[in-house]
Order: sequence, then structure tokens, then C-alpha cells
Amino acid sequence: MRPLKKIAILPGDGIGIEVTREARQLLELYRNHAKLPLELWDLDFGAERYLRDGTTLPPDVLDQIRRGCDAVLLGALGDPRVKSNDHARDILFGIRFGCDLYANIRPVRALSDRLVPIKDKRAADVDFVVFRENTEGLYANIGGYLRKGTPGEVAIDEDINTRQGVERIIVAAFEFARATKRTRVHMADKSNALRHSHELWLRAFHEIRGRYPEIEGVHMYVDALCLRIIQAPEEFQVIVTNNLFGDIVTDLAAALQGGLGMAASANVFSSDLSRVAMFEPVHGSAPLLVGKDLANPFAAFSTVGMMLAHLGWPTEEERIESAIRRALESGNCTTDVGGRLGTRAAGAWVRDEVKRLLQAAD
Ligand code: NAD
Ligand code: IPM
Ligand code: MN
Repeated sequence: MRPLKKIAILPGDGIGIEVTREARQLLELYRNHAKLPLELWDLDFGAERYLRDGTTLPPDVLDQIRRGCDAVLLGALGDPRVKSNDHARDILFGIRFGCDLYANIRPVRALSDRLVPIKDKRAADVDFVVFRENTEGLYANIGGYLRKGTPGEVAIDEDINTRQGVERIIVAAFEFARATKRTRVHMADKSNALRHSHELWLRAFHEIRGRYPEIEGVHMYVDALCLRIIQAPEEFQVIVTNNLFGDIVTDLAAALQGGLGMAASANVFSSDLSRVAMFEPVHGSAPLLVGKDLANPFAAFSTVGMMLAHLGWPTEEERIESAIRRALESGNCTTDVGGRLGTRAAGAWVRDEVKRLLQAAD
């Protein structure tokens, strides 16, 4: 990789814009104060632009992202004025699929005991990572309508599961477990109901887990896994699952972390097609919060932490996390996590804390 890291910044819509403004300032702090070699490239794609001139994600920009960027920071996409959600799918899936970012990594970690909503569970009980398949499944956009708009209408979305696609995400989960000395990987499917596609998941999982004798590979049906995540989150270390289940499980799991305002994610690759990775909070554009200075910027901050770790600065992820922990402990956070500050003030507090920690380490 080049010494200068080029980061495309795509705030998107709604509170995506508000939290990305805070996250961008954190990156500026790293660039200006800590002298990290970062180049920031602002992109205005989202509902506003789409409504103005019909642009979603131009192919030449995707190409520049693919070939010229090290990372993308994305806020969120989705706007009540765009009922079809066409722009959001074009942009989000355009990058996820177009750069073949097949692993959507979503850590589920509680940063404070008081954020864990389950009786008798503490932050130490909530620490696992979800590997969501990110390029196929029901998201593959293969389908169509028959007799649309008539009483006999048929609507089809095909569930695409390729051997290569299933295998590479399961391998990614096991490799991560091995590299981080985790000892258990859960795979969640519905092979009891979906005889073909999820039988493939089950078969691939059984084969692959044999290559990792030091790691316990546990299969669970996804419904039972949802139950267990709430009853005994401490049993989970790594969960691998398909695109749709991964989406649902990570919103559920975000509740264990203190809500969507706390959940970060990375979309990563390891293919020849591109070397870029995309980082985004798990949450959406939360239309009801827009313009009220209520959105929690911490998911976006943790997302920046994941990005900096990916770019080669793992200590910065820890530093950002420490600053967030202190903000939570001292109540310098937004109301969704029990604080008294707005988006801007909570963001500024954490950035000041990061700055202080950087100075102390000098
Ligand atoms: P959402 O994630 O926007 O909101 C769900 C709930 O979480 C709401 O109660 C919201 O107030 C709360 N919440 C979310 N982020 C928060 C934050 N940072 N701080 C405090 N509270 C927060 O999900 P939704 O309401 O189902 O979707 C709204 C729009 O966002 C839709 O258009 C949807 O398609 C889109 N969406 C986009 C992404 C993405 O771009 N990656 C992800 C999810 C949803
Ligand atoms: C997410 C979101 C998206 C998804 C939506 C906006 C299409 O919910 O990133 O979790 O389902 O992947
Ligand atoms: Mn989601």
C-alpha cells in the first residue's frame, strides 16, 4: 500500500451526514495533529444529489474508489423522499458488490456495563464478532415480477448461494478466530427448512471446520441462535451467517451494545478486483432524529477506529475506544446511551479525549 492513505468520505443521508461530519473531524484530528498520512476525498452521493440530477454512483467514481482508494467511510443511505430506495441500493450495494467486499464484519462489544440491557449480564459478557456474507444470498438482485400490479402478481427474489461465496466467508470467520485466538465459531442457517441452499452452508461449514482443529465449530439454526444471543451472549465469540440473517442478527445484537448508536462495521475484501475496504456504522439514516442533534456519533467513531486499524494503526482503534469508554463513564454522551449531550458536543468531547490521550502518549 502507498504511504498516503486515500479515504473517500460518503456521508449519504439523514443522520449519516451528521455522524460522518463528526467522524470526519476525528480523521482530521489524526491527519493534522497526529500527522497520519491521510487524504480525504468528499463525495456528495445520496438522496439530495439523486433528487437533483438522478445521479447515484457513477461508474467512473466506483472505478476510482476501487483502484485509487484505501478506504471508504460511509454514513448511511435512505431518505423518506426516495420511496423506491433505488439510490441507496445503487450506492451501498454498488460499493459492496462492485468491490467484492464479501466480508461484512460487525463486532458486538459492550463498552460499559450499564449499556447491557439484560439482567445479570455485564459488558464482559458481550464480546463477539459477526461475519456476514456480503455479496450474494437474497441480496443478489436476481428476480422480477410477473403480472405486476394485477391480482395475480408474482414477485421473486432468488437466494443465490455459491460454493465459492459460502466457503470464503466461512474461511474468513475461522481465519479471524485463529488469528485472534478465539476458540469457537458459530454458523447460523435454516438448513432445516431451506433444503438446498442452506444444506450447502452446512456441508461447507462441516468441511471447513475440520481444517481448524483448535477451534470449536458449532452449527445453530438462526432462530435458536437469536434466542441464545439474548439468553447467554457470553457463549458467542464469532458468528458466521448469510447476508440477510447477518443483517437481522446484527441489529438484534446491537441492542446488547447499547443500541444502534454504538454498532460499527467493516466491509472487507481479499480479492484481485480491488484493495479498498468500506467502513460504516450499522445504523441507518434514522429520519426521525435528523436535524435535532440527537444522533449518537460513537458508532461512526468506532467505525473510524476499525478503519485506522485496517490501515495499519491498531493502537488508534484502542485509543478511540478508550475515549468512548470514558465519555460513557462520565455521561459525556448522547441521550440514547444515557448522556446529556448532543451529537456535536459528544463528538467534540471524544475528540478532545483522543487528543489528550495522544499528547499523553507523546
Ligand atoms: P435506523 O438504523 O435508521 O434506525 C433504527 C432505530 O435506531 C431508530 O429508532 C433510530 O432512532 C435508532 N438509531 C439509529 N442510529 C442511531 C444513532 N446513531 N443514534 C441514536 N439512535 C439511533 O433504521 P430504520 O429506521 O429501519 O431505517 C431508516 C433508513 O435508513 C431507511 O431508509 C433504511 O433503509 C436506511 N438504512 C440504511 C443503512 C445503511 O446505509 N447502511 C442501514 C440501515 C438502514
Ligand atoms: C445495513 C442495512 C442495509 C442492508 C440496507 C440499507 C439495504 O440494513 O447495512 O445493515 O440490509 O445491508
Ligand atoms: Mn441493517
